[in-house]
Amino acid sequence: MADFSLSGRVALVTGGNGGMGLGYVDALASAGADVAVFDIAPSPSQELLDVKEKYSKIGAQIAYYIADVSSQDSLQTAFSSVEADFERLNICVCNAGINKVADFLDMPWNAHRRLFEINVLGVYHTAQMAASLMIKSKATNPSIILIGSIAGRNSVKSSNHSAYSGTKGAVLGILPAVAKELGPHGIRVNAISPGYVRTPMTTPYPDLLDSWKKETMLGRVGNPGDMVGACIFLASDASKYITAHDLVVDGGKTMW
Ligand SMILES: NC(=O)c1ccc[n+]([C@@H]2O[C@H](COP(=O)([O-])OP(=O)(O)OC[C@H]3O[C@@H](n4cnc5c(N)ncnc54)[C@H](O)[C@@H]3O)[C@@H](O)[C@H]2O)c1
Repeated sequence: MADFSLSGRVALVTGGNGGMGLGYVDALASAGADVAVFDIAPSPSQELLDVKEKYSKIGAQIAYYIADVSSQDSLQTAFSSVEADFERLNICVCNAGINKVADFLDMPWNAHRRLFEINVLGVYHTAQMAASLMIKSKATNPSIILIGSIAGRNSVKSSNHSAYSGTKGAVLGILPAVAKELGPHGIRVNAISPGYVRTPMTTPYPDLLDSWKKETMLGRVGNPGDMVGACIFLASDASKYITAHDLVVDGGKTMW
């Protein structure tokens, strides 16, 4: 279906070196986009290099930029490089994030601050710089996707991470206000809120991955591939009349 094609578009994925971000990079390239990847890792992972190699054969570019989304200077430098290399930006997936499992009574101040720097300031200012480049480059059909979480609205029965939940609640709070301001520029802003997904973020908790299965209607934990349909839908013209929406992809967990 033509509306799902991203041919000729330039996308950016933060935290695209692994986990769900890598899945978004792969999917955006398969839909026809060139993809810029921002990640804090000093070099691209073998998995990202494999994806890059796969799409280079069909002429799609995947470019890696070292960028720390919690640093204004680092983000600005990386955005300048994207502008120089691609001259425009149509899609931005603000995905980079970290978690911290800690009881409310024990949550350390500095770890809490770090969560907010990456998960809130990083998402907000990535979206801000992306929108500026979209407007400046007169990009067609621009779309920004913020990555929230079901933890932004609900507590997680079997693990304690109230500070992380606060950061994801902030992302979902930012969503309608930013969508309102960017609507007149023709930029749509939506969120994806994943449920429980098997990634490097969650593999340190095999007992939880096992127990989480029982909390979903579909009887299994998600994988990064389960998220990509939502990403392509929100990035593409298939969702051209949707903005300020949080698309929950959780195997039915939060409706149970
Ligand atoms: N895994 C889950 O169950 C789950 C559920 C809901 C939401 N999420 C959210 O989805 C997003 C991706 O999660 P994931 O599970 O793939 O995580 P992950 O830890 O597997 O991958 C995160 C990526 O972000 C990068 N990153 C970390 N800090 C960064 C920074 N300061 N600047 C740039 N890049 C940085 C990491 O290097 C890594 O490549 C996060 O925002 C997370 O909060 C995850």
